[in-house]
Amino acid sequence: MIVNKVTDLIGNTPLFEIKMKNNNWKVYLKLEKFNPGGSMKDRMALNMIEQAEKDGRLKPNGTIIESSSGNTAIGLAIASAIKGYKFIAVVDHHASKEKIDMIKAYGGETVVVGDDYKANEVAVIEREKMAKKMSEEIENSFFPHQADNLDNPLAYTDTLAKELVNELKTIDTFYAAIGTGGSSCGTALGLKKYNQNTLINVIEPEGSILFGGKGKPYFQSGTGNPINAPIPKIIDYSLINNNFYAKDDEAFNTCRYFAKRYGLLIGGSAGGVIYKALEDINKKSGSGIAVILLCDGGEKYLNNIFNDEWMKKNKLINKDIAEQLEKWI
Ligand SMILES: Cc1ncc(COP(=O)(O)O)c(C=O)c1O
Repeated sequence: MIVNKVTDLIGNTPLFEIKMKNNNWKVYLKLEKFNPGGSMKDRMALNMIEQAEKDGRLKPNGTIIESSSGNTAIGLAIASAIKGYKFIAVVDHHASKEKIDMIKAYGGETVVVGDDYKANEVAVIEREKMAKKMSEEIENSFFPHQADNLDNPLAYTDTLAKELVNELKTIDTFYAAIGTGGSSCGTALGLKKYNQNTLINVIEPEGSILFGGKGKPYFQSGTGNPINAPIPKIIDYSLINNNFYAKDDEAFNTCRYFAKRYGLLIGGSAGGVIYKALEDINKKSGSGIAVILLCDGGEKYLNNIFNDEWMKKNKLINKDIAEQLEKWI
């Protein structure tokens, strides 16, 4: 494969097959860490930029400003670098050091809000407010606002969903983390076009409020919607069949297990989706095809999920998770 633009490397990510012990379901992990910026968000970042270029919301030499937990910002930083835009990411103190360093490496600037806040929820609202304010003050700027921008979900409908259908033909059940809802709802739209019966399951952290749950702080980064944060307008609840809650310890100990058992370094939301998906698939009988969408890789979480001291300090080590996983796979 020969390319001359890094954005040509976005998409067509591999599927990793794992086997269930108690039934004949085939389970495929869609490894979005193999996108150039290390996450599925490269897809929507490029689409939000290109659609805005087409309809004039984004003009030459413009400044792109986005509020992000990190992955969207990395995707925007890459696309901005090759297209000649200035990029400013508004992140909060929950963004990992690795993510902030990556944004800077691509020439992006970062503004960190909420240094002195303890609760997750306040930081998200603060960064949205800051991004909006900056976009009003900076001339020739564009605030994609991923939570309300339909070019976010639509980026997945014709790419990720098509890749899955081309490779697997029938997909019985699909699992994804949900934050803005872009990846889950956009992929769901594409999958349901091919097969109306594909079940769409979304996983949010325990403490997220997308399905009426009682909010509380959580450590899973990028996924869910913290208490008091507005529900993203792009979530299409009519496409979603089931929702599940992943606990921080379930998510993070699953990440650590996958690194040691399969040599696969996955991110925190990916760990949560896998754990809840396997729990659900294990209850099924017979055979079928399941796909689990994994947003990013563990490389961005070496200082927390894969750091023993951090895990111990936050009382997140739980050996039962690996034992449970051993019973399922
Ligand atoms: C690590 C991670 N997982 C899951 C999500 C949720 O994806 P979406 O916003 O498409 O719902 C994000 C979004 O930023 C993320 O960064």
